[in-house]
This record gives sequence, C-alpha cells and structure tokens, in this order.
Amino acid sequence: LQDKKNKLIAIHNATAAFYHQVLMNTVTGEPALAYLKERGFTTELLQEFQIGFSPPDKTATQKILENQNFAASLLKETGIFSDRSDSSELLDRFAGRIMFPLRNEKGATVAFSGRILPTDNAEKSDYHEAKYLNSPETILFSKRNFLFNLDKARVNMRKTSEVVLFEGYMDVISAWNADQKNGVASMGTALTDEQMRILNKTVDSVVLCYDGDRAGMEATRKAIDLLSTNQRFDISIFPMQPGMDPDDYIQEKGPQAFREGIQNHKESIFQFQSRFLKTQIDLDSEKNRVEYLERMLKELVQVDSIIERELYLNELAEDFDIDLAVLKKQLQEYQQVHM
Ligand code: GTP
Ligand code: MN
Ligand code: MN
Ligand code: MN
Ligand code: MN
Repeated sequence: LQDKKNKLIAIHNATAAFYHQVLMNTVTGEPALAYLKERGFTTELLQEFQIGFSPPDKTATQKILENQNFAASLLKETGIFSDRSDSSELLDRFAGRIMFPLRNEKGATVAFSGRILPTDNAEKSDYHEAKYLNSPETILFSKRNFLFNLDKARVNMRKTSEVVLFEGYMDVISAWNADQKNGVASMGTALTDEQMRILNKTVDSVVLCYDGDRAGMEATRKAIDLLSTNQRFDISIFPMQPGMDPDDYIQEKGPQAFREGIQNHKESIFQFQSRFLKTQIDLDSEKNRVEYLERMLKELVQVDSIIERELYLNELAEDFDIDLAVLKKQLQEYQQVHM
C-alpha cells in the first residue's frame, strides 16, 4: 500500500509541476495569471504554494502524465480525472481552473482544489459550476483529516503555541503573505474531531478568523462548541466586518493591521456570543431584552474566570441599566442548575 501511495504522490507532484508551468510560462495560463496578480499574488507566493492552471483542453493532463510513463490504472485512482468517461481517455476534472495543490503534513501533494476563473463581469450567480472543486476522497486524501497549510504552518504553530483557523485557503495564503504564518483551513467543511485532535498536539490557543457573514458566524459558533467541549483550548475570535473575509481585510487594511488585529483585537467567547446574539435578537422590545440577558447569563456560567465573569456582569448591568445584584442572583441560579 505504501508503495502505491508513493506512486500516487509522484503523479500528484508531476501534475502540480505541470499546472504550475502552464500558469507561469504559457499563453494558456495568461488569463489566470492576470487574475491572480490582480488579487495580489506575487511570483514568489505563486511558487511557494505551487499554484497552477489546468488547461481548458481536458486531455492535456493525461498526455503529459503518460509521457512520463505513469500507468493509466494508477492515474484513474488519483481522482484528478472525471470518472464519467467510459472511453479510454482520461479527462481532467479540473480543466480550466486555477489549481491549488493540497499538501499533507509532510508536504507531499495528495489532492487538488481548483478555483473557477471568473470571466469578465461575471457575478457569483452567473457561475454555472461550483466556485471551488476538490479532489474526491482517495487513499491519499480524506477531508476530515486534512488541514490546508499544516505542513508549512506547524513550525510556527509550535513556536507561538497558537493556530489561526480560517474558512478559506485563500485566506490562509493571504495571511501567510501578510507574515501571519500560523494559519490553516479545513476544505470548506465544518471543523472535525480529527482536525481538532491534530491541533491539540501542537497548540494551546486557537484564534477563529472566519468570514464576517452569517455563514462565517455560524461556523465560528460551531467551532467554539466543538473546541470547548472536547479539549482545553484557549479560544478567541478575531472578528471580520459583515461582507469581509480575512483576505479582503488584508487587501483593504494592510498586513500590519491584520497582524495587530490577531495580536490585540480579539474577542472572548462571551463577547462573540453577545455580538452574535445581537444579530439574531432585536433588542428594541422588552421581551427580547429579557431573552438576551437570560441567554448571556447562561453563557456566563461557562466562563471559568471569576474576574472575567465580574467584568462581563458589570457590562451587562450597565448596558441594560439593571441592578448588578439582580443579575448576580440570576447567574447563581443558572450555576446551580449547571452543577
Ligand atoms: P475567494 O472567493 O476566491 O476569495 O475564496 P474564499 O476563500 O473567500 O471562499 P469562500 O469564502 O466562498 O469559501 C470558503 C471555503 O469554502 C473555500 O476555501 C472552499 O474550501 C469552500 N468552498 C466555497 N465554495 C465552494 C464550492 O462551491 N464548492 C466546494 N467544494 N467548496 C467551496
Ligand atoms: Mn492554555
Ligand atoms: Mn464564505
Ligand atoms: Mn471568503
Ligand atoms: Mn475571499
């Protein structure tokens, strides 16, 4: 099996080299290269992540690989080719996409993700295909166990005992380029137990830096639930404004502002939950204000530090112009239920 895995990795390496060559040095790659440059990718960054372009001609990849004497039966097992074709021809499922090699923790390329190349003026809704397409699960690649950039980030994670979790690998790359080099992302799925176990081996602290939209906030809440029930992580959140993701933030405010944000402007879980709840509950009505307070007091039960609890209680009392003693009494009741 190991022998077979090594062969499949060799195919992935050759394919990544081919895609990269097409992007950097061919006319076919020019529109994709222009798009990436426009988004701030430098030549060094494209090389570092070995970003590429899969030619629109679906048969090109097979031809290149067969010239390198890889057996067709092995090529089929890589997941690079679409499984639809009944002919002997292997058609590249990623044809026409910008290609990102997915490297395992040892740095070996075990899968790909392909981003659609936007055509002029095309809005998201005009896409006829998914924006991103990943390799299927293979003997080399399982999404549940995979974290993008773990190979490069791990040494920095260890050094800082911290990991920054992103939603998209574009954000990971953008953060890396901004000299924030302890970032990883899962491949578009919610954080899994397996991924959490990997993180737990390397860091104490997790900074969640997901997109500023509703989906990003939902994903943050889910990640908090998972991380806080199963392991003892120090969790904090670096919030993005609505409509912004970390990559947008870096493009707009610059690398230094981003790094300082990660350092100094993080929210606690309680602060995040409070902000999130405010997007869901309209505090104009009395009834809703009561509900908000009750739910935040229940959140406070989870806060271990007495000092932090006191601080947040004071904030709530001030915000809502309520007697601190009343809030304390209610909190005590919730604490008893909790025990
Ligand atoms: P850009 O639009 O290029 O800036 O990418 P993004 O990183 O902002 O992507 P987005 O926030 O839309 O999605 C975050 C992550 O979710 C991506 O990195 C993908 O892993 C995943 N994702 C998004 N759209 C799709 C899709 O259409 N199919 C799949 N399989 N995954 C997706
Ligand atoms: Mn700790
Ligand atoms: Mn998103
Ligand atoms: Mn995004
Ligand atoms: Mn983005």
